[in-house]
Amino acid sequence: MKTLFCPPCAGEGVTAPLSVSLQCGACGRQWPVLAGGTDFIAVLLPDPDAAARMVGLVSAMLRDPGQLATWLDSGDALEAAMAGGLLTYAQAHFGGCAVPPLPAADLGWLLRAWTDDLPAGPIGLLGCATGGEAWAMRHVAAMRDRTVWLVDANLAALAWGQMLFDNGSVVLPHRTSATRIDWRTTQLPEAAPNVRWLCADALFPPFAAGSLSAVVTLNLLDSISDPFALVQQVEALLAPGGVWILASPWNWQTSVTPPKRQLERHIPGEDVDQGIVDLVTGRTLAGLGDGLQVEWRADDVPWRLQVHPRFAAHYRLQVVRLRKSSQ
Ligand SMILES: C[S@@+](CC[C@H](N)C(=O)[O-])C[C@H]1O[C@@H](n2cnc3c(N)ncnc32)[C@H](O)[C@@H]1O
Repeated sequence: MKTLFCPPCAGEGVTAPLSVSLQCGACGRQWPVLAGGTDFIAVLLPDPDAAARMVGLVSAMLRDPGQLATWLDSGDALEAAMAGGLLTYAQAHFGGCAVPPLPAADLGWLLRAWTDDLPAGPIGLLGCATGGEAWAMRHVAAMRDRTVWLVDANLAALAWGQMLFDNGSVVLPHRTSATRIDWRTTQLPEAAPNVRWLCADALFPPFAAGSLSAVVTLNLLDSISDPFALVQQVEALLAPGGVWILASPWNWQTSVTPPKRQLERHIPGEDVDQGIVDLVTGRTLAGLGDGLQVEWRADDVPWRLQVHPRFAAHYRLQVVRLRKSSQ
């Protein structure tokens, strides 16, 4: 585990790597793991109590998947968020592999946005939920020869994705109505890529600055409390010459992102698409994305999420490939 760091210590510039047992060499904190699959999932959330509670909940859910329905109804924010994320993204990412198939999202455009022209270093897929990004990119050369970190704050979604990648087959939970859940056998048609699953907060990433060759954030920036901080974190995490694939429908919700932190509120002109690009490449606010340049861009990529059989959301994503300057 030499490449992971204690998030609070890393935030203060102390980069003592975590030991094999996930103990921080600087503050002594012992971080929890979920031991569900072939590899531990380290849970490096900034709040240790939340991390421990999440491990307990997800361990219980793996023993008794019926808990998922209980989570949806419980009124508890963490349980509802984990259940909702798992249900939506298991189907969006892998519904096409269910027997018979369920409506799923099309991630094929990710290959057009991708480049294998990368500096050395691991890849980080941040906010990946059940890991559909890694599955869509399984044939790209860079996925084979370097460590790929699949990072999300939802441990339930990660644990389910890990089971699928480990076994090639799993039952997929999906909504049959707004309130009902059913399960459907799901089989990957070929081996899953070799990845590492990690439960962490993208705003407090446990990686060293300048260490990642590429970062992918698909639908994360408008699902996070502070997208400005995330832009700065991604720029800091990238190695010189590293690449960031950013995709978002910019569907801001005040309950998730306070208005003052919603990027488009800071765009001076009428052209929101160009304004966002200017904002994340240092042309609007000094210190935000100064070292990033646009390399590839598509402003209108369809993205469809089936929530239940009578409810699908149709988004149009803005997708940008940015490269960090190599000095
Ligand atoms: C809209 S979903 C996108 C999932 C997937 N990338 C996709 O587009 O299909 C946003 C994901 O980001 C995760 N997320 C939200 N805030 C996060 C944070 N601070 N750190 C890590 N993951 C976060 C959520 O758990 C959720 O899985």
